[in-house]
Amino acid sequence: GAPVEISVTKAEPGQQIRVIWRGKPVWLVNRTAEMLATLEGLAEALKDPNSENVKQQPEYAKNLARTREGKEQYLVLVGICTHLGCSPTYRPEVAPADLGADWKGGWYCPCHGSRFDLAGRVYKNVPAGANLEVPPYYFKDDNTIVIG
Ligand code: FES
Repeated sequence: GAPVEISVTKAEPGQQIRVIWRGKPVWLVNRTAEMLATLEGLAEALKDPNSENVKQQPEYAKNLARTREGKEQYLVLVGICTHLGCSPTYRPEVAPADLGADWKGGWYCPCHGSRFDLAGRVYKNVPAGANLEVPPYYFKDDNTIVIG
């Protein structure tokens, strides 16, 4: 499949936008400072907090933000649940009634209830076993991401 370009200017702070790459949904999220701050302190609640599973991201995205260095606000993920392939729902709000007081924002999979944080890291006690996948990507210029 051909590489796909996304302009990061299309995503307002806090917003997710979606493109298709190789037939798969890929998300770009423009995370706010508040959203990035939620990533710290979750390690105990997560199955793979340090993104040790090498199949789930390129080496350059094996860090807390799961991004290219210097572009931590822009998260790029394959939007497919690592359980059985549903597409999780973006739920950026903190502590909504249906997800509980400890929810800090992330993705919720409606199929079997898997939960992922705002870096796509999977929580413990859910059926999905791996973090959401970060596809290969790079910045062609300051505002343009190329996926693939
Ligand atoms: Fe997402 Fe089963 S497919 S929890």
